[in-house]
Amino acid sequence: MNIRLASFLILFTLLIASLFGYTQAGNSSKRSSGNWWKEAVIYQIYPRSFKDYDGDGIGDLKGINSKLDYIKSLGVTAVWLNPVYSSPNTDNGYDVSDYRKIMSDFGTMDDFDSLLHGLHERGIKLIMDLVVNHSSDEHAWFLQSRSSRTNPYRNYYHWWDAERGKPPYRYSLFDVDGNAWAYDSTTNAYYLHYFSRKQPDLNWENPKVRAEVFDIMKYWADKGIDGFRLDAFQFVAKDTSFPAFPKGFEKHFNLYYAMQGNIHHYLQEMYREVFAKYDVMSVAEGAGNSFKDAHDLVDSQRHELNMAYAFDGVDLAKPGGYSLLHFKDVFTRWDSAFEKNGWLSIFLSNHDQARMVSRFGNDSPAFRAHSSEMLTTFIMTMRGTPYFYNGDELGMTNIRFDSIGDYRDVQTLNAYQHELKTGGNLKKFMTFQASVSRDNGRTPFQWDSSPNAGFTTGTPWIKVNPNYKAINAESEDKDPNSVLNYFRKIVSLRRTHPALVYGKYKLLDRNNTHVYSYLRTVPGERFLVMLNFGPVPASVFPGFDLRGSTLLLSNYENSDTKRGKTNVLRPYEARVYKLRS
Ligand code: GLC
Repeated sequence: MNIRLASFLILFTLLIASLFGYTQAGNSSKRSSGNWWKEAVIYQIYPRSFKDYDGDGIGDLKGINSKLDYIKSLGVTAVWLNPVYSSPNTDNGYDVSDYRKIMSDFGTMDDFDSLLHGLHERGIKLIMDLVVNHSSDEHAWFLQSRSSRTNPYRNYYHWWDAERGKPPYRYSLFDVDGNAWAYDSTTNAYYLHYFSRKQPDLNWENPKVRAEVFDIMKYWADKGIDGFRLDAFQFVAKDTSFPAFPKGFEKHFNLYYAMQGNIHHYLQEMYREVFAKYDVMSVAEGAGNSFKDAHDLVDSQRHELNMAYAFDGVDLAKPGGYSLLHFKDVFTRWDSAFEKNGWLSIFLSNHDQARMVSRFGNDSPAFRAHSSEMLTTFIMTMRGTPYFYNGDELGMTNIRFDSIGDYRDVQTLNAYQHELKTGGNLKKFMTFQASVSRDNGRTPFQWDSSPNAGFTTGTPWIKVNPNYKAINAESEDKDPNSVLNYFRKIVSLRRTHPALVYGKYKLLDRNNTHVYSYLRTVPGERFLVMLNFGPVPASVFPGFDLRGSTLLLSNYENSDTKRGKTNVLRPYEARVYKLRS
């Protein structure tokens, strides 16, 4: 072949490759479309409760595999899978005993590979949960570490030798006594665990630990996964001299635990070692204590992460309710803080929250469907990447257990033990848990009206919500006006209008206590979203000129499109208009 022809062919190949967005990265070479994670609609699957294939009462990977067409039918573009690694399951997989193996309850690596393949075949990306603030105490590293003070793995974790006296108090989120230091008699020392005693914190100050984590990430990235959600990552860096914190610090523990020490250094190292070499997105759980913290995590110039998710929004809903003005204020402030630089995550629930409709909407039969749809409209029309929790697309509700024997979550169970030990008010505790416990969001996915909602043929690991005969995917699929079909419509709307992803956000009618209205604008296109957050008809600001506008979607049939009649929204009504430009 002559040289000119050869160089032409090379150039031509490069051009085609760049047109199709192929990137060459480390060992991995795969299709990338730049900011896909900004345009993504992320569907979170809690594997334990999604679909049980083998009849042992626990959801599994084969179960998810059997539902890929359902997932595809939603229109979502990525799946975030809660941890599926080997784990003794103290915290449902957030206590990993082997980061390169699949939890036996969930299946095998072959099942994982088929899942990844099946998702990719359908154009859906896969985001893995990376739990590396801590491991399980059954991980080989910890077994070594606790075996002697001179073991090479000793410094993989944080130890405080008992002859130094008691370590300065650290608060634990899940410990029965609220104490993050556990005494271990084998070596007469205390180890640190911000979560349960079976979740010892890894020592990120040790470069060997970081190298191990980066290797684990490469292992999964080489398999072809598309992203990592970094669990509890804001807590990884610690001042290992463990200075005393002021009395009562635990009431604001985030100020003392989040974004400490060398965290940015570790993230930049992770970027160099992993993110720069693979086409994977990254999102951290937790965004620190200020907009600056959040910006520093996601500023693309700093080469750390793509996104972080903050809790300000999701934390607003309390058992007694929440104020819409406050809600608007939080989301508006977060939007404006990221208007020019950085990117947001938008969510109202996940596996750590009670159900979205029970917390932010109204799960009584009269309003459940409309309020779920209204909340979904909010999530899908805000700037930022939407994260949507499985089951919310059906409008699944809190189960509200009244017996402690029904709960499975280590957080609730340990908090109950704490109440018992300290003579707390158990009645009050149970009432509180019924509305806030994470188990509310973890009951089995409601597939159909057959026994156990079609989740399992065995005994489910946690009770199925008895309302499954009325609320399930099969019946909602058939009903064009169901919550499920509304979800599909709004997802498709977001995906066909880049303005809903990238458009400038502007709050309207700020002081309206019932209706949340905002504009989303790109040059040449304007969208208006109006959401009634309450159970009574509510007036929208007067005088907004809707002439020439098109009602793209509403959660009420025959929603009023006549001009001049847009000043009242029905209970939990949501409308999305395309305005005359
Ligand atoms: C994160 C997870 C949560 C888990 C905790 C400890 O907050 O989302 O489910 O219990 O970390 O890993």
